[in-house]
Amino acid sequence: MEMAGRGDAGLEEEVSMLPALAWKNGALVLVDQRRLPWKEEYRTLTTVEQVARAIEDMVVRGAPAIGIAAAYGLALGISNLKPGADPESEFSRFYQRLWRTRPTARNLFWALERMKAVFEENKKAGLGRLKKALLAEARAIEEEDLEINRKIGEYGAELIPEGATILTHCNAGALATAGYGTALGVVRAAQARKKKIKVLACETRPFLQGARLTVWELARERIPVTLITDNMAGWLMSRGEVSLVIVGADRIARNGDTANKIGTYSLAVLARNHGLPFYVAAPLSTFDFRLRSGVDIPIEERKADEVRRFGRRLITLPDVPVKNPSFDVTPGQLITAIITEKGVIGTPLFRGIRQIRNR
Ligand code: MRU
Repeated sequence: MEMAGRGDAGLEEEVSMLPALAWKNGALVLVDQRRLPWKEEYRTLTTVEQVARAIEDMVVRGAPAIGIAAAYGLALGISNLKPGADPESEFSRFYQRLWRTRPTARNLFWALERMKAVFEENKKAGLGRLKKALLAEARAIEEEDLEINRKIGEYGAELIPEGATILTHCNAGALATAGYGTALGVVRAAQARKKKIKVLACETRPFLQGARLTVWELARERIPVTLITDNMAGWLMSRGEVSLVIVGADRIARNGDTANKIGTYSLAVLARNHGLPFYVAAPLSTFDFRLRSGVDIPIEERKADEVRRFGRRLITLPDVPVKNPSFDVTPGQLITAIITEKGVIGTPLFRGIRQIRNR
């Protein structure tokens, strides 16, 4: 594994287990997902501002990974406080900064709120105790996510028929989580059960998470993967070349409406039209129980140049107006089931979501 720019000989083993992020020697180390699959470059972050920018620029991306990075960001900020600084006002500043990084993934806000609760419990206990408690909580969020993904994989693998061709969108894999992945966790678990599965990865314009990250991640583990452009999915479904669709999620409302990478909604409509199962795999930390439906999910609009360019290359007029919503919302009625760490939620989704929340 090439370890450009890390300057730490002990990191290789740790990072190869958890490729998206690792806490090492008081810093947050991220693999730069903008550079994959061409280069495995690691960034060592030591300030809250660096963590916030890494989330905004998508050095780290994927709902659970964003939440974990933000949690470590808060731990980092407090652990580096200078003597005499006011932890209360500094924590609030760090919190606001990280809160504003990306608007759609619920896991970001969920993780920040969890860290805030720990701050409130420990803020009077002395700076040393506070630092330890925040770091321990960030670690717990990371470790729990890995465990949760494995459970999602176990439940999800039951739904995958022998010999299935699984279509997926974006990257909901180890790179988007603490490791293992949600949608790709199900793929991994099915493969571990010796089901002869194949994956069709949509390239996922404009940021190409499918072409760059999902393909890289699956190829590394020798899980058969074929790349398609996003507009090929319907044709392949009509020819019987897809068995089911499985995607991750950024935010799920109480009725099952699901925000995920732009293009997910189109795939759900196509799957319904062709009578194919459409599964969402997500941890409970992705659910926004305050939202009755998806209409109130904030959808991030990203920079126009992501669409005007293919990688660095300009593919249109430099000033053409562009729309770049980074996510869409798939109505719950188009979703066959949601796979969580507490089990599979079938239809009607609103009832299953209510039950699982209280379990
Ligand atoms: O813009 P991104 O790359 O952060 O979007 C990621 C997705 O849409 C994923 O499908 C989602 O976060 C689930 S990751 C387990």
